Amino acid sequence: MERERAGKMEITTRAPGKIILAGEHAVVHGYTAVASSIDLYTVVSLRLSTEDEDTIKLQLNDIGLDFSWPIERIKEVLSHLGSPFSSTPTTCSLETVKSLTALVDEQSFPETRIGLASGVCAFLWLYTSILGFKPATVIVSSDLPVGAGLGSSAAYCVALSAALLAFSDSVKLDVNQKGWLMFEETEVELLNKWAFEGEKIIHGRPSGVDNSVSTFGNVIKFKSGNMTRINCNMPLRMLITNTKVGRDTKALVANVSARKSRHPDAMCSVLNAIESISDEWSTIIQSHAVDDLSLSTNEEKLGELMEMNQGLLLSLGVSHASIEIVLQTTMKYKLASKLTGAGGGGCVLTLLPTQLSGAVVDKLVEELESYGYQCFTAGIGGKGVQISFDGSS
Ligand code: MEV
Repeated sequence: MERERAGKMEITTRAPGKIILAGEHAVVHGYTAVASSIDLYTVVSLRLSTEDEDTIKLQLNDIGLDFSWPIERIKEVLSHLGSPFSSTPTTCSLETVKSLTALVDEQSFPETRIGLASGVCAFLWLYTSILGFKPATVIVSSDLPVGAGLGSSAAYCVALSAALLAFSDSVKLDVNQKGWLMFEETEVELLNKWAFEGEKIIHGRPSGVDNSVSTFGNVIKFKSGNMTRINCNMPLRMLITNTKVGRDTKALVANVSARKSRHPDAMCSVLNAIESISDEWSTIIQSHAVDDLSLSTNEEKLGELMEMNQGLLLSLGVSHASIEIVLQTTMKYKLASKLTGAGGGGCVLTLLPTQLSGAVVDKLVEELESYGYQCFTAGIGGKGVQISFDGSS
């Protein structure tokens, strides 16, 4: 393989998290969402081992979990597949998910971390499909809270797919370049497709918006599997409040689908209304405000759209008492908020208008933190997945 020939046995990749500005859940049913990358990353380093070693290792640094599988054992468990190795992204069958789960169960997996088992299955699927049975150590660390709506699983699948593909012949970057490098357009498209296959193992039926925004970065509009890049011409400042209430995206998505089959007409109207909100979001952020007055008019419109979107998310059944507390608190400061991601806890976005004073933001943050929530502002709309060959991470 090219990378090995150049003597590079270790590479590092990073992929950003995301916020959904409008349209979560609706996007699963083919309606438009608007999402943006944020400057919090998941970093993956992959070090190929010498051929005489015979294990594939995974270290999840932030949660302190280490896994190690003898390659012969992986081959045995996946023997029904012949070789899982594939040059094009393939979906992991239910039967194979079961086999991979058995491999994960053989490792001592703490009961409290059982929700992460699907992420380890996704690792095994992406690894064996892209790199076959080469021995290596993969180390994952992340700035992103897990299961909080900021796209941690997508960033993990994207950074992982990028690192694995970097050791395949599909990626043609100059290994002597320094710093974080971007992939070629065809390469990012390929790794996005692989990341989506990983996301399917973790979430069941994801829309693909999370892995797409983590791959391509910036602001995107997403509908029925198709992505449009958006030029955001507005300075968007969001406060992100993590309620620290953990939740399960797969279950929340399934609950919305169940509600849709019980009330198809009403839900169709709600989802159409969400789509109109996403469309208006994308029009507003692409427009150039000519002066401060038009900028604050646009900010007011976005605030209203966020309030409407939140109301509709409540009617989908994905709000939560902790989210409602954030909404009531920010409302006292006349600021608009909405949940972001799957809901049921997780993170809430609050639009911080450009004219809002730092003192007001500090007071709001203090009040929100008194509930035990964690507040932060993340840079919005940065680059997507990147790779480094010089350990610059
Ligand atoms: C999760 O970040 C966003 C959802 O719309 C699920 C998805 O799009 O796959 C809730």
